[in-house]
Amino acid sequence: MKVILGVTGCIAAYKSALILRLLQEQGHDVIPVMTRSAEEFITPLTLEKLSGHRVITDLFEDHSPEILHISAARASDLLLVAPATANILAKFAAGLADDFLSTLYLSTTTPVVIAPAMNVEMWRHPATVSSVKTLWDRGVVFVDPESGYQACGERGEGRLADPARISSAVASVLQGTRSLEGKSVLVTAGPTIEDVDPVRFVSNRSSGKMGYALAAEAFNRGALVHLISGPTALDPPPGVKVTWVRSAKEMAEKAYSSFPSADIVVKAAAVADYTPVDVAAEKTKKGSSRWMLELQRTEDILLELGKRKDNQLLVGFAAESKNLVENATEKLQRKNLDLIVANDISQTGSGFEANYNQVVLVDREGLAEESPLLPKSQIAKQILDKVEVLLQRASTVSEESNES
Ligand code: CTP
Repeated sequence: MKVILGVTGCIAAYKSALILRLLQEQGHDVIPVMTRSAEEFITPLTLEKLSGHRVITDLFEDHSPEILHISAARASDLLLVAPATANILAKFAAGLADDFLSTLYLSTTTPVVIAPAMNVEMWRHPATVSSVKTLWDRGVVFVDPESGYQACGERGEGRLADPARISSAVASVLQGTRSLEGKSVLVTAGPTIEDVDPVRFVSNRSSGKMGYALAAEAFNRGALVHLISGPTALDPPPGVKVTWVRSAKEMAEKAYSSFPSADIVVKAAAVADYTPVDVAAEKTKKGSSRWMLELQRTEDILLELGKRKDNQLLVGFAAESKNLVENATEKLQRKNLDLIVANDISQTGSGFEANYNQVVLVDREGLAEESPLLPKSQIAKQILDKVEVLLQRASTVSEESNES
């Protein structure tokens, strides 16, 4: 496939040569486009020699009758901008077209993947945050920058994502089935952490693997994915918007604010059911005997989402050690869900922390479908296949009721 690689002016521009190579290794024909300021950081000759294409920078450099930005846009399958500066994000968001790359962005109808890179304060600036949000809402896929040492000497978020993550996001976009294109999917994943004092906490064994696999699969199917994650040791899937939370309370706040704009909500997180009544500001010194820790119930986020449900398709999980289907069905009804994924946590090699899972999918009609023991990535496919069937069913029902 043909990928246009847009390179903009920041120090990470030198990494564009590696990104170009990785895309070629995937079998793509890469056409480089550079902004004027990118040329200050890497010479067009480098990308020209690697790609075998003339590097386009100037809107007016070509005097052939062909309109270059239109023909480039039509002849390509994807536009990747890596690294993308705050300036190009602002231009794309505002629809400015004052150079070749921004004009190309406006004329392309292909998927757009952007990997930003900039100083941490520039990345956090409300102007940049709002450009990213505008573009994300338009369906642009972001490969978020990473945290670490920056060329300016500061540390923090803003460093260009690993080139391998960028090329794998491109691969997912190009290979995906696009069956969830236009859908907004909210996934919660991982454990929550309930602080007891500055050094101790109450949590659970969730690794986040199932939720992350669901987020990755939804992204592969073309959805706009927002992952709300508790602390995990995993790298979030590229292309997915991530909001990090710690406690059940924080997860609830973020889930409630993102819920109205979601079409599909998958609540894979293992939310703590109890949290300490008091969080001590100082480390609690050990006494001579027992420590009675008083816990109170957290809010059941899924139950609340079920009450607020409008047109969203709501998927919950049920971790059970006995009476799997009965308990899951009771949760499905009580929490007003469309689908529940039940897993038997008494089974070894499946569920919490494991790479594999075996689940039963129970829908509102009481149909229970049992999966074999499969890698979580395969279970994610089965869950989303079922979600697509339910979406299809819901749209047929609404068409029939409109006709009558
Ligand atoms: N859940 C939630 N908020 C909570 C607890 C659970 O949103 N405070 C969600 C989980 O994300 C999951 C579902 O509820 O999708 C079921 O979680 P599970 O722990 O199996 O069940 P509970 O409803 O907490 O009931 P119990 O622990 O009594 O089995």
